[in-house]
Amino acid sequence: MPAPHFPSEFGEETILFDSGFAAPQLLPSLTPFALAALTEHREEVLQYASGRGQPHLREWLAEWMNQDGCALTPDHILVTNGAKQGIDLVCRLLLDEGDAIVVSAPTYFTAIPIFRNFGVEFIEIGQDAHGFDVDALETALDARAADGRELPKLIYNVPEFHNPTGATMSAARREALIALADARGIAIVEDSPYRQVRFEGPDEPLLKALDRSGTVFHLGTFSKLVAPGLRIGWIAAEPAQVARMIQLKSEGGSSPLIQRIIYEFARSPDFSAHIDRVQAAYRERRDCIVAAVARELPEARIAVPEGGYYVWLTLPAHVDGDLLAAKAGEAGIHLIAGSRFFASVGAEVPRHHVRLAYSYTTPDQIENGVRRLGAVYRSIAGQ
Ligand SMILES: Cc1ncc(COP(=O)(O)O)c(C=O)c1O
Repeated sequence: MPAPHFPSEFGEETILFDSGFAAPQLLPSLTPFALAALTEHREEVLQYASGRGQPHLREWLAEWMNQDGCALTPDHILVTNGAKQGIDLVCRLLLDEGDAIVVSAPTYFTAIPIFRNFGVEFIEIGQDAHGFDVDALETALDARAADGRELPKLIYNVPEFHNPTGATMSAARREALIALADARGIAIVEDSPYRQVRFEGPDEPLLKALDRSGTVFHLGTFSKLVAPGLRIGWIAAEPAQVARMIQLKSEGGSSPLIQRIIYEFARSPDFSAHIDRVQAAYRERRDCIVAAVARELPEARIAVPEGGYYVWLTLPAHVDGDLLAAKAGEAGIHLIAGSRFFASVGAEVPRHHVRLAYSYTTPDQIENGVRRLGAVYRSIAGQ
């Protein structure tokens, strides 16, 4: 399978709707914070550091999540090299070869090979406009129990601005998921990289905020709000589980230099101004792509996301999203076929979807790219 493209590989005519790169215009100026880190905190940032993450950042993260309804201490926080390392660490902690796990269908495609590395069996559960279908999960778990099969070890989901569908789980669904997971003794992995990239509507409660028994492993990251190249994220979990994951995080700890830069930025007045800019700019891009798709690909259904980086297009059943992605790529418009977001393989995988990321492209590029995509679409849909 082709990997998403790196922007530096292409000229201006190429439109990159394929991967969730940050808008270059939104990358914050971190120079003053880097300078302060390297002068005022020189020894701290250039030495080996704690495997669990720097105390200042863990304290800030616990407080930040507490403002979002949680009840955490710094001992609940493990700093990671991005959310992807968070997924890997939770798998190392919880999974043995052959275990079952639950994912949504579709799901975040980069997580699929991480899970596969652990030799898991996937149980795929659908979604609708209110997010992950908890009733369908309950039915699937009942059927497994009736067959005498082991229950899954974890449920992985992206509750807000889902990658790829953009759907956000309602509060009622979240409560129901926590209750079901608690009752069956299954861990929940809440992967929430887009939480602050909200354009409208009220926040739904974090699963971690609803968690009363330590069921939820919350994965956070600075990639989508600040800059993916920083490679810093975190896991919020029970202190005993954090202590075990520190042993499994064997690369020597996340960079203390980058942690200090992030901490200084996050507690400066620049941070909230940055969040406002991010929300406004991605909202404009979301509006632009939704309008352009309605105009240029009127047969495609598009669910308008309230935040995040992606729109998910449902094409008429006879239109092959794999073919559309391939032909569009030849025309210099890169996007990802929906079939890549399903953990299952084979004939039953739906092929009439594509995902477009609007985070990297400017509104002008979005207009240009969707217009050209419309022409490719018409050439393969036989109109
Ligand atoms: C759902 C989800 N989880 C995790 C990540 C990656 O996060 P990080 O850069 O922190 O590894 C992404 C990035 O696209 C994502 O969409």
